Amino acid sequence: MDSFLVSPNGPLKGDVCISGSKNAVLPVMAAAMLANGISKISNVPNLKDTSTMSDVLRVIGCRIKEDKDCLSIDSSDINHLEAPYELVKTMRASFYVLGPLVAKYGKCRVSLPGGCAWGPRPVDLHLKGLEALGAKINVTHGYVEALIDGKLKGNTFSFPISSVGATANILMAATLAEGTSVLQNSSIEPEITALAEYLTGMGAKINGIGTRTLIVEGVENLNPGNGPTIADRIEAGTFLAAAAITRGKVKATNMVPAHQGALLEVFERIGCKITQGDNWVELDAEGCELLPAHIVTMPYPGFPTDMQAQLMALLATVKGTSSVRDTIYNDRFKHVSELNRLGADISLKEDTALINGGGELTGAPVMASDLRASAALVLAGLVAKEQTEISRIYHLDRGYENFESKLSALGAKLERVNG
Ligand code: UD1
Repeated sequence: MDSFLVSPNGPLKGDVCISGSKNAVLPVMAAAMLANGISKISNVPNLKDTSTMSDVLRVIGCRIKEDKDCLSIDSSDINHLEAPYELVKTMRASFYVLGPLVAKYGKCRVSLPGGCAWGPRPVDLHLKGLEALGAKINVTHGYVEALIDGKLKGNTFSFPISSVGATANILMAATLAEGTSVLQNSSIEPEITALAEYLTGMGAKINGIGTRTLIVEGVENLNPGNGPTIADRIEAGTFLAAAAITRGKVKATNMVPAHQGALLEVFERIGCKITQGDNWVELDAEGCELLPAHIVTMPYPGFPTDMQAQLMALLATVKGTSSVRDTIYNDRFKHVSELNRLGADISLKEDTALINGGGELTGAPVMASDLRASAALVLAGLVAKEQTEISRIYHLDRGYENFESKLSALGAKLERVNG
């Protein structure tokens, strides 16, 4: 298993080009199965998770070609309506195949994803939403079996809580249902809007895109899709946090500033200077005495749970008491003990981490527990005295494209050790 060796090397400086969004491209890849033919997706990040999704689609019978950052997915010969445990257990987003397969082929069998480093992550809303559209769901031997008689039937379904994954799955299924579906309290994350727009390009009839009520008028068939992946707002946020923690100045380009509202507001509140243009954001923390902050994660447009670990690392370097409360995943705090190994002073009280910041961080061997926790440890390593060794960085490879080369180009000192 590969590790990173990270050493402090002063403030990061320069421009970094942001890749396509992992969380946006995964449901779009699954959506390709709703059509017969070759769908194309551009600006696809080269990540472990995108290759896992390709593997899942291949098992189902899709033919996939990669050409630089473009992916073509030929769904003409789907012949195996099953997503196996061996793949789904490695990436929960594999569950996105459920909605498209049952809507198009009337039946499928998809492994339950199982646990996660952040605690329980149920899929009950995915199942309830499909049941509302008329699917018969049977959970047996660790698999979800979904079956319909004829076609899915449009219906009104209200998500009891905001769920990105369930919204995506039910939205995809509803595009081929008979009649109209009204999906209330849908998630409005940019990745859902991007999916809805890709589906619209395939011929789906969706109203209310970008709002909490999606109205989907089912159609007989969808055409293959073609479109780009939106920029990864979490990757962009991570590089801006890297600029802040090193008190540097970094411009993230090829991104969508409008997707970063809550995060940029926090950066400004703690004293970073933010400038932005049409498709870039620059964070300048040079010479800044940053202030502590209290952060609460919320569904979009609130502060993203996927940025709390990175901000926690940053706040550990800021004098005073800060807090990070995660209302989406109450247990998403595996990085706390590892940050403390680097000298941070963070304690946990239920769903809140209390950070007594400003003490010196010192390098140590630490272990990555999940994707964003890995990024937080790298950020801490950029300022921890001497060397930090981060093991299990396969988590990082799931979601950050060329992370070490992009960081090195900004002046960071880190190397990958193959192990
Ligand atoms: C997606 C993102 C993940 C991000 C999360 C929240 C992808 C591939 N992953 O995950 O990076 O951290 O959104 O922004 O896009 N829930 C249920 N029942 C369900 C589904 C969800 O109770 O059936 C709960 C979850 O436990 C959680 C909350 O709903 O507390 C939100 O989860 P959800 O938005 O579904 O997250 P994911 O789509 O899995």
